[in-house]
Amino acid sequence: MAKRNIVITGGAGFIGSHVVRLFVNKYPEYNIINLDKLTYAGNLANLKDVEDKPNYKFVKMDICDFEAFYQLMQDEQIDGIIHLAAESHVDRSIKDPFTFARTNVMGTLSLLQAAKLYWESLPEGYDGKRFYHISTDEVYGALTMNHPEGIEPPFKTVASSEGHKAYGDDFFYETTKYNPHSPYSAAKASSDHFVRAYHDTYGMPTIVTNCSNNYGPYQFPEKLIPLFINNIRNRKPLPVYGKGENVRDWLYVEDHARAIDLIFHEGKIAETYNIGGFNEWKNIDLIKVMIKTVDRILGNPEGHSLDLITYVTDRLGHDARYAIDSTKLQKELGWEPSLQFEEGIEKTVRWYLDNQEWMDNITSGDYEKYYEEMYKGR
Ligand code: NAD
Ligand code: TYD
Repeated sequence: MAKRNIVITGGAGFIGSHVVRLFVNKYPEYNIINLDKLTYAGNLANLKDVEDKPNYKFVKMDICDFEAFYQLMQDEQIDGIIHLAAESHVDRSIKDPFTFARTNVMGTLSLLQAAKLYWESLPEGYDGKRFYHISTDEVYGALTMNHPEGIEPPFKTVASSEGHKAYGDDFFYETTKYNPHSPYSAAKASSDHFVRAYHDTYGMPTIVTNCSNNYGPYQFPEKLIPLFINNIRNRKPLPVYGKGENVRDWLYVEDHARAIDLIFHEGKIAETYNIGGFNEWKNIDLIKVMIKTVDRILGNPEGHSLDLITYVTDRLGHDARYAIDSTKLQKELGWEPSLQFEEGIEKTVRWYLDNQEWMDNITSGDYEKYYEEMYKGR
């Protein structure tokens, strides 16, 4: 395997930390640079097990800092960028859209322009280079819920839950027109367009992938699954938006990371791939599975925590249903999820319950001190 110098942005976040771990362990000959600003969502404790590996380096940097990133490209002779850094929480984007435009749009543009200038200055130009942008299915908008009771789905994968249902006839395909609704998805859509524009205009070798909702270890506990597991453990209310009828399509985070590895190495330049496991869940049904699983593991009687369910005012512009069709990725590159949802949720619940210190450090804010202690003087 050839030596490569790869920057992974957002590597201290949820998905990024799984991608960094996979690359550092799988490719000892690569030079893996985790570039992260360490916002509230960035946590170096997510990567304790790889921080001393010789092929891993952490760089604290804002993706909007064009000069610093251009310098890094030159110093490290970067030939691959896997871009995950973003503001990622829809509720925050509703309250503070400017931060989302700054990081997700201007930050992505800044990386693209620095990569363009550096790669175009080399004798071989764009040969062997890759700018891989990680995006979301939320850019496609919302699908209709024309089968609220659920129908037999046209597709299944290993990830599909037992008794898996589809809640509408339509799915997001790579050809689905962009129609983002939240400030988060609008900013992600804009960044996707910029990435494609750099291919179409300058010939930069880019790839974009759009993935469904991820779940698993190290997710920041403002998102549904870790928040609710932690609240059940602490007997705190579970704030269900609206009627809990919205549908999300859930994929185990390590299966996303494996797809990213495959697509980075074997995906076709300028292509888009949708990533998802055909695993639709109504929020309320998923919440009941989490309650059942946590109660069983903690030794509570069945149904013990159901009283924590608290219906609250709906999220503004709350998208009704997301469901990804990932047939292209499966057929063209042979990707398959590895974990069925029931196994994935069991693993995830156990991970959060077994790693209470990780969770408590976040909820108490201690993780911000970790960087200072680990990295001062380096
Ligand atoms: P996250 O919020 O857990 O992590 C984001 C990371 O980016 C953090 O480490 C944060 O410190 C860093 N960051 C934020 N602003 C930065 C800046 N200006 N400069 C440098 N670093 C910055 O997010 P996540 O859930 O891991 O999502 C990662 C990517 O995957 C995002 O681009 C997101 O849009 C996309 N995505 C997420 C999901 C999901 O379900 N979580 C699904 C599909 C796609
Ligand atoms: P979230 O994890 O924020 O992901 P996204 O909005 O990107 O899909 O939310 C998943 C679903 O759970 C979404 O339909 C909103 C809902 N939700 C709640 O009902 N209560 C909550 O406290 C949160 C955070 C989410």
